[in-house]
Amino acid sequence: MKIVVIQGPNLNMLGIREQQVYGAMKLEQIHAQMRDFAEQSGIEIEFFQSNFEGEIVDKIQECYGDAQGIIINPAAYTHTSIAIRDAISAVNLPTIEVHISNIHRREEFRKQNMVAAVCTSSIVGFGPFGYHLAMVGMVQIFNEIRAVQEMQKQAAQAE
Ligand code: DQA
Repeated sequence: MKIVVIQGPNLNMLGIREQQVYGAMKLEQIHAQMRDFAEQSGIEIEFFQSNFEGEIVDKIQECYGDAQGIIINPAAYTHTSIAIRDAISAVNLPTIEVHISNIHRREEFRKQNMVAAVCTSSIVGFGPFGYHLAMVGMVQIFNEIRAVQEMQKQAAQAE
């Protein structure tokens, strides 16, 4: 099983940008923790960050046939990008949206969310720990998919 982690604009500035909102951890540190957890869980993981909407759309499309799950923080594009929403919908993979801050208790414009409705789940407001929660959530989703596949296999054998 493979997860692709997709990080949107300005998340490469974590640890520098607005520490009171996003915390002090750098993106590389967050990714190192996710990699450790993935290794312990026997899951392949790939990381991608871009400040460009089209590159994020391309990366989501590449996940089709290559990955079994997506963890995405579309950052500011969350609030504007129908293209990213449509790409998530198109590949139809289990997708967990992460926001470091609680976007619901910030400026009005952050309450508009283009992607939430096409994601499996959203994790907001836990700080960088939200990425770990997303990993735990994705492992649970993978376990459930495996359990259903196993049941279907047994049912087919019993026929
Ligand atoms: C963010 C919230 C967005 O509103 C903002 O534009 C970001 C980061 C978060 O992780 O809290 O860049 O997605």
